Amino acid sequence: MTRAPGLSADDRATFARDGYLVVPGFLDAPTCTTLADRARALVDAFDPTTVSIFSTRDQASTSDAYFLGSGDDVRFFFEEEAFLPGGSLRQEKALSINKIGHALHDRDPVFAAFSRGAVIQAVIADLGLSRPRQLQSMYIFKNPRIGGDVACHQDATFLYTEPMSVTGLWFALEDATLDNGCLWALPGGHTGPLRKRFARAGGDATRMIEVDSTPLPAVVPGAPWVPLEVPRGTMVLLHGHLPHWSGANRSPRSRHAYSIHVIDEACRYPEDNWLRPGAASAAE
Ligand code: FE2
Repeated sequence: MTRAPGLSADDRATFARDGYLVVPGFLDAPTCTTLADRARALVDAFDPTTVSIFSTRDQASTSDAYFLGSGDDVRFFFEEEAFLPGGSLRQEKALSINKIGHALHDRDPVFAAFSRGAVIQAVIADLGLSRPRQLQSMYIFKNPRIGGDVACHQDATFLYTEPMSVTGLWFALEDATLDNGCLWALPGGHTGPLRKRFARAGGDATRMIEVDSTPLPAVVPGAPWVPLEVPRGTMVLLHGHLPHWSGANRSPRSRHAYSIHVIDEACRYPEDNWLRPGAASAAE
């Protein structure tokens, strides 16, 4: 059965109630394969020796500059556990990358075609934003055995607007399971306040600003958290205030996913937000 375009009334009601929505079968297998193949090709073509993050001098600063400049580029980030003490890779490059970010939707032709395609636009049009804009995208590998955990967070911490407008569209390009580090969500947790905001602090420095001191719920692999074990092709929508996290991947299977974050351009986007999109993406 073919899904109707966009979000149904039931979809919107579930998303409003829970702060997330799981849509199995949203992408067909060829689309998942096309995106995964493209990500592998990008990693193959990436020469890590050209990247300043390997500088032994002032590594924190150069890493930050590489990260802060990724808002309008296609850049590659390694897993923390990718390197041996001497600095060489523990396993092959393709199995060492944590993610590619943060402008695939804008700078890479394959991801741009997918992100701007009618299927995605129909979902975005149903989010209720007055001037939706794809601001950021990531390809997440969660590679076998070294795929790192992602601490509990709210996406609005990293994609901050006033008022809050960010929504995440997360696509499972491989099965996500408890073993390979699936997402965990807190149903209804989006009704709580934004706790923190990640901002630039001059030069290549960043800082975390407390917005509300209410603690995020403790991370436990069980209630009240819900594991989003989803098959390949599933779309998960995430409200910008929804607390969520994922565990490390110690399994022999990767957990590839692509995500797009959409904001409302009618909202204020502060100057000190870490992500500075380029003029080209403003034309979207
Ligand atoms: Fe997130």
